Amino acid sequence: MRTPLIAGNWKMHLAPTEARKYAIRLRVRLADVRGRDILVFPPFTALPAVIEELGRSGIACGGQNLHWEKQGAFTGEISAPFLADLGCSHVLVGHSERRHIFGETDEDCGRKTRAALDAGLTPILCVGETLEQREADATRQVIERQLAAGLKPVQEDEKFVLAYEPVWAIGTGRTASPEQADEVHRHIRAWLGSRFTPDLAARVRILYGGSVKPENVDDLMKLPDLDGVLVGGAALNADSFDRIVRFLP
Ligand code: PGA
Repeated sequence: MRTPLIAGNWKMHLAPTEARKYAIRLRVRLADVRGRDILVFPPFTALPAVIEELGRSGIACGGQNLHWEKQGAFTGEISAPFLADLGCSHVLVGHSERRHIFGETDEDCGRKTRAALDAGLTPILCVGETLEQREADATRQVIERQLAAGLKPVQEDEKFVLAYEPVWAIGTGRTASPEQADEVHRHIRAWLGSRFTPDLAARVRILYGGSVKPENVDDLMKLPDLDGVLVGGAALNADSFDRIVRFLP
């Protein structure tokens, strides 16, 4: 019942001119794909070009971050209504690089989730433990704290997506094993069932992110509680992103 969602986070790569060319390549290469949702997160400055090229291709587009206020004296920030106005449908909230490099807190994530929903965007709330936290056996506790704060202002009937991204697996070439991912994904779904309702828990898509590649996507996508992937490095290459989108069920 949950359509697989394959998302590419381009991070701070691809200026508008390159991003436009890449969007055209993806549109052409992925035109025949059915039964999977595809989503890309270009840098802010490339959003207009990418949205224009993807048009009605079925590939959706989102922002990598947002500010929780609608507008105001927040130099350098971008609000949810600005993203919605461009034609974005989604936005990442609390990516580990935002949390760890830019000091975003769990409370900031809750405000951002609310702002995204108010603007009609679907937030993708990212959660995940560091290596230290995993080794201290604190993975569940950390994830529950991030979920509780990030989803605090969310109601049962609102639409959101979650992404489990263990920090130690992002950009490191070290993927969580299917067993490790499975354990956390199951736990997140059970948590959703108690915080919301079993109905909502059955409906929400939970993505995995962290060194997803053509070589490991098939095994990850076989996990019953893993509904898609959030891809960084491998999303910048059309061959590898194409292969990931065409994961073998
Ligand atoms: P990676 O990044 O695939 O390069 O590990 C994933 C992410 O940060 O979303």
